[in-house]
Order: sequence, then structure tokens, then C-alpha cells
Amino acid sequence: MKSPENKADSRPRHIAIIMDGNGRWARSRMLPRAIGHREGVKSVRRVVEACIDKGIGALTLFAFSSENWRRPSEEVSLIMDLFVNTLRKEVDALDRNNVRLRFIGERAAFSENLRGLISESEQQTAGNEQLELVIAANYGGHWDITRACRALAQRVADGELAAQDITSDAIAGALSMPDLPMPDLFIRTGGERRISNFLLWQLAYTELYFTDLLWPEFDAGELDMALLWYANRQRRFGRTGDQVEQLKGA
Ligand code: IPE
Ligand code: IPE
Ligand code: MG
Repeated sequence: MKSPENKADSRPRHIAIIMDGNGRWARSRMLPRAIGHREGVKSVRRVVEACIDKGIGALTLFAFSSENWRRPSEEVSLIMDLFVNTLRKEVDALDRNNVRLRFIGERAAFSENLRGLISESEQQTAGNEQLELVIAANYGGHWDITRACRALAQRVADGELAAQDITSDAIAGALSMPDLPMPDLFIRTGGERRISNFLLWQLAYTELYFTDLLWPEFDAGELDMALLWYANRQRRFGRTGDQVEQLKGA
């Protein structure tokens, strides 16, 4: 991922979202959690459409964490089925809308069927340019960093890389989605103020927006609120506020 510095636009180039609160949304309506997850897919559709409309370049959605396997097996299977069905249903429309779809996370744990659908969808949409849509599935920030370290260590062991070449840029380049800018804006719905092992390295200088709304309630209007909040942040990257103002004027 590239550095987010020197960004002139008040619009984020990359938004990363923890879509939390599906279960509580369902429970508050005396519905099974499954319905909450299904409703959550509708929010995904709304937010993807809104990002296309607004010309956002990249959107990363946390769909299933490496820790979510701890949930009851019925809920895990239900979420896996939802992935399969949603991919089957939505990929052609995403493709028509010029959306490039990709997945980050450890795929080996998924069924062969799901793995096949994931790679087909990535291949089908590989040439699209309107929106980079990244689905984090069986993803964990620790997993991502560990994998990057292992890949770099292997290159050192193979004599391709010297230990002193393991720089911050080299690590960033070995993480998932190295070609995308670091997220400018992070959104978490559902009221919790935590990162839950999402993008750890990549969120170093991201603006963090938390809302108590539950994910099934999130829509284009709520995204607008987050974008407005973001537009009013002064991103200093360690500099003073005065320096940032001077740089803007220059
Ligand atoms: C987020 O909603 C979806 C996943 C983690 C797959 P939750 O299922 O965590 O909803 P709550 O937090 O229980 O309300
Ligand atoms: C984070 O939500 C993961 C996803 C949204 C996929 P969780 O609901 O799993 O997070 P915790 O466990 O409450 O931190
Ligand atoms: Mg949750």
C-alpha cells in the first residue's frame, strides 16, 4: 500500500469498514441472527453503489475475521453459505458496474466451492477500474503481518534480500493489497471502539470513525455523514497544524 500523505482531495481514496451489529439488529427485532446477516448484505450493496456514485477508488469490507470461527458452527456455516450465494448473485452486476473484486485473508479454510467462486470472481473482474472492492474474509491483521514477515524471511534465506533491506516499504509491499493506498477513512458500525484485528499496519494514519448504528441500518446517507466528518479532519502526519496549512497554500 502506498503512503496516504500529500493527499489534496477531501474525499478518501480508500475506505475500510468493520460491518458490525448484524446480530444485535436481528435480536432487537426478535429475529434469528441469520436474518441480520442477510440484511447486512443489503447494506453492502447500498454502500458499494454509493462508493461508485461518489467516485471512491477503493473500499475494503471486513466480512469474516480469523476469530469469527469461534462462533457457533451453525452461524459460521450460515455466513459461508451467504458468501457463496451472494457471490453467485452479485458478481455479474459488479462486473457490469466496472468493479474489481478481490479477497484478502486465508482461503485454505474455505470449502473448495467457495474458493473456486472467489478466484472466478477475481478473474472475471480483474480488468475493472471504477472501484476496487476488497472483501476481507478469514482475515486478521496478525495473519497479514505474520505472512509478510515469513515471505520476506524466505527471500532473505534464499539470498534474494539482505536483512537491512527489510524496510517499512518492503513490509508494506509484502502485505495484502500492496497496490492500493492505505485507507484514509475507517468506519466501524455497531458501537464498539476497537479494531478487532482488522488492518493493523495499514490503519497507522487512518482517520477512525465510529458509529452506534448497526450495520443493517447503514446507508448512503450515513456514509455521507462519515465523509463529511472526514472532510473536516486535519491530517497532520506528525507535523504541526500550521505546517499543514502552509503546505496546503503552497
Ligand atoms: C458483524 O455482525 C458480522 C460478522 C462478524 C460476520 P455481528 O454478527 O458481529 O453482529 P453483533 O456484533 O453480534 O451484533
Ligand atoms: C469484527 O466484528 C469482524 C467483522 C465485522 C467481520 P466482530 O463482531 O467479530 O468483533 P468483536 O469480536 O466484537 O471485536
Ligand atoms: Mg459483532
